[in-house]
Amino acid sequence: MTLDHIKVVGVIGAGQMGAGIAQVAAASGWEVRLHDVAEPALRKALDRIREGLNRAREKGTLAPDQVGPALGRVRPAGRIEDLADSPLIFEAAPEEAALKTALFRRLGELCKPETVLASNTSSISITALGAASGRPDRVIGIHFMNPVPVMRLVEVVRGLDTSEETTALALKVARRLDKTAVVCRDSPGFIVNRLLMPMINEAIFLHQEQPELTPVQIDLAMTAGTNQPVGPLALADRVGLDTVLAILTVLHEDLGDPKFRPCPLLRQYVAAGRLGRKSGRGFYEYESHQRSAG
Ligand code: CAA
Repeated sequence: MTLDHIKVVGVIGAGQMGAGIAQVAAASGWEVRLHDVAEPALRKALDRIREGLNRAREKGTLAPDQVGPALGRVRPAGRIEDLADSPLIFEAAPEEAALKTALFRRLGELCKPETVLASNTSSISITALGAASGRPDRVIGIHFMNPVPVMRLVEVVRGLDTSEETTALALKVARRLDKTAVVCRDSPGFIVNRLLMPMINEAIFLHQEQPELTPVQIDLAMTAGTNQPVGPLALADRVGLDTVLAILTVLHEDLGDPKFRPCPLLRQYVAAGRLGRKSGRGFYEYESHQRSAG
């Protein structure tokens, strides 16, 4: 399959990542079928996409006359069957292995044999998702960074049996979406999370060990000291503390190295429902408009 064959793409999952992927896909001219089992999530995603397209217009990265048409190209789909005809499907469901495995099994049954299934997973094995789908050569990771419309990188992750043809297509998809791609093999955390999550985890350990060292001070040390645009604790809040915990757990279990053990304070925050921006409180507190910005 070539890029020219693709007119409509499917996106599964209407959370902050799925909405971002739908936004950039629609802005690039593709029709998008956005599926989620939760109707309110679909409605929220459309609002988020509208806001995001308007932000892109304000920044001059999207022509003013393209906002309406791009939004019009995103069609919510309450049933996964509505995605069956899309030659390319992006999966951005919550980061739960059992859920994603079941989804890939279902997509394998539902979609045409040539359909390419691209997972946005940040830590679950692409090889395992490929096996579940029954078409491992056509399953690949296209891992976007958060916030999707703003961040340049995608990790293109090859499962054990991902074909050269599927990899080549993923690279073309990245280029079309104006992203910079780095190809890597399927391994826990790929590149970015393998490096980023230990840093975030250590920042949480520091705060746990020295509560008087506030998130503001820890983040200031890293922004002023290493020129990062935001510090590790503000970034953890943006990613979502539940997601941070899920990724660290996979790194810890799959690599078997104690250096990846999630900090107890992180576990406590997640248990308390302090999930970062999306719940209004993590290491920082957020107003409602900041939450929806993701
Ligand atoms: N569509 C949608 N949202 C947009 C947008 C657009 N076209 N343009 C901007 N935004 C959003 C941004 O998300 C940001 O949201 P908040 O209001 O919630 O902060 C806001 O609009 C402001 O963005 P600006 O670009 O105007 O301003 P900024 O200079 O503050 O940049 C930033 C924001 C680019 C996000 C910057 O803070 C940054 O670089 N942060 C670090 C992000 C990062 O490292 N991401 C990777 C996370 S790791 C990951 O994603 C992997 C994983 O698996 C967990």
